Amino acid sequence: MQIILLGTAAGGGVPQWNCWCPTCRTARADPGRVHHRTQSSIAVSPDGARWFLINASPDVRDQLARLRSAGSIPAATVRHVPIEAVLLTDAELDHSLGIVLLREARSLALYATDAVARVLEHDSRVLPMTRAFATVTVSPLPIDQPVPLHDRIGAASGLTAEAFTVRGDPPRFASDHAPGHTVGLVIRDVATGGCLAYVPGCGAMDEAVVRRLRAADAVLFDGTFWRDDELSALGISPHSARSMGHVPIDGPDGSLAVLASLPAAIRVYTHINNSNPVLIEDSAPRAAVHAAGLIVGDDGLTFAV
Ligand code: MLT
Ligand code: MN
Ligand code: ZN
Repeated sequence: MQIILLGTAAGGGVPQWNCWCPTCRTARADPGRVHHRTQSSIAVSPDGARWFLINASPDVRDQLARLRSAGSIPAATVRHVPIEAVLLTDAELDHSLGIVLLREARSLALYATDAVARVLEHDSRVLPMTRAFATVTVSPLPIDQPVPLHDRIGAASGLTAEAFTVRGDPPRFASDHAPGHTVGLVIRDVATGGCLAYVPGCGAMDEAVVRRLRAADAVLFDGTFWRDDELSALGISPHSARSMGHVPIDGPDGSLAVLASLPAAIRVYTHINNSNPVLIEDSAPRAAVHAAGLIVGDDGLTFAV
C-alpha cells in the first residue's frame, strides 16, 4: 500500500490567514524554517494507480494535483476522477468541506460511520449540497469491523478499512453526539498484510486506541498541539487541547511517550495546528519528537507499507 500525506496541518493550515502567532509569523518570514502546510488529508493506494482519499479538506483541489503523476490518462479521456472514493474520520469542516468542492465528479463514493453521515446530511448539509451536482453514495463504516473498499467500477480494491472510536469532541454544529462521530481508521492491504493506522484527531491515549496503534506498521497520529494550554498561553482561546478532543504531544499523559514505545517503523505526527512549536525546524520540541523516533509530517511525504 502506498500512502501520500496530502495535507498535514490542522484546520486553518500553516500559516493560517488571520494568525500572527510566532509560528505563523516564522512561516511567512522564513518558510524554510516553518514549512507551509495544507489541511489534513491523506491518499492511500493498493497499486499506485487507484487512490482513496481519507478526509476531503478545503485544500483538496491543490492536493489532488499530487496524484496526477500516478496514472497516465489516455488522450481520448476528457474527464477523469483521480480518486476511487473518500473515507472520513469525522465531519469537521477541515475534513469534509472538500466533498462539496469535488461536486464536478458527477458521482462520488463516500465511506463514513452512521454518526458522521448524519452530521453531513442534517447539520452541515454537505451531502444535500453536493447531491445537487453529483450522485453521492455513502457506504457505512461500521465500528470495529473491516469493510472492503471498492473502486469506481465496483471491484474490490485490495484494501480494507476498519473504523474504531476515539475520544473526541463532536463538531460544534453537530446536533447529536452519537458514538462514531470521531474515529480512527485502520487501512489494511489484503495482499501484503501492510497496515496503516490513521488517527488525525484523538482526545486520549486509552487502551483500546493503543492496542490499535500497536498492531500497525505505520501510524499517522494527532499532532495538533504540543501542550494542553497552548492556545490559552498564546491568548488565542481559553480552550485546552484535551477539551477540543486533541491529546497534546508533550507531558506525562501526552501522546509522545506512548507513540515512542510502539513497534511501528513509521510514526508520524499530522493534523498539526499552526500554533505548535514542533513546526519550527530547529526547535527543542521538534528535536524531542525526533529523539523519540517519530517524525513531524510534511505535505507530500510518501511511504509504503
Ligand atoms: C478539530 O480538529 O478539532 C476541528 O477541526 C476544529 C475546527 O476546525 O474548528
Ligand atoms: Mn481538525
Ligand atoms: Zn498561527
